[in-house]
Amino acid sequence: MRLNRLEFLAMNNGPRRLHMRLVEFRIFKNLLRRKNICLHGKILLDAACGSGYSLKLLEKAFQPERLFGFDIMPEQAKLVDRPAKNTYFFLGDITRLALADAIFDGIFAFGILHHIDDWIAGAQELHRVLKPGGVLLIEEPNRPAVEFFHRYFRFDFPKKNRFDWPDFELKMAQIGFKKLHHTKIYCDCLRAYLWRKI
Ligand SMILES: C[S@@+](CC[C@H](N)C(=O)[O-])C[C@H]1O[C@@H](n2cnc3c(N)ncnc32)[C@H](O)[C@@H]1O
Repeated sequence: MRLNRLEFLAMNNGPRRLHMRLVEFRIFKNLLRRKNICLHGKILLDAACGSGYSLKLLEKAFQPERLFGFDIMPEQAKLVDRPAKNTYFFLGDITRLALADAIFDGIFAFGILHHIDDWIAGAQELHRVLKPGGVLLIEEPNRPAVEFFHRYFRFDFPKKNRFDWPDFELKMAQIGFKKLHHTKIYCDCLRAYLWRKI
């Protein structure tokens, strides 16, 4: 689901980029370090990478063999800087990616599933393109957080399929992910997860 104007501006500004670099991305790196997982030089996907700032962070941190990023909004695509040599950006829908099965060692998804009408279809698609044993890093708000941002910031989100953590974890396990760890970001309404495809 497209971002409304307000959320588009909230996602794309200097302080958000700083926050992404110093807080969100560090949390992902700590989760990997904690489980001794090395994604250096691997094939990575940045799902719904928005304006692509996270592509830069991933390039710098992991020097991937190949890095792919996609987003559904052409307005976001216009903001993506010229990617590095092994980085590729395309317009795409997380629920039906024009990608082969089992090609990525690692997938990063910063705040995307709560934007998808059928988030399970999105998670299934990430599972499909991940190699067996590959890892998925997700940052997500749960149902109360989504309702808070809708009520007080007027962000638009799909009304159905909002999840609480037990429901989210159960569905992810049913899709075929094993939870390796999770951590809260400020409060438990916002979590970062590390999953492995089994
Ligand atoms: C909250 S933003 C996060 C963007 C980026 N990951 C970041 O952290 O700045 C959610 C993103 O998901 C994208 N999006 C929404 N529905 C999508 C879909 N079905 N397929 C791909 N991207 C989608 C939006 O265009 C938006 O860029």
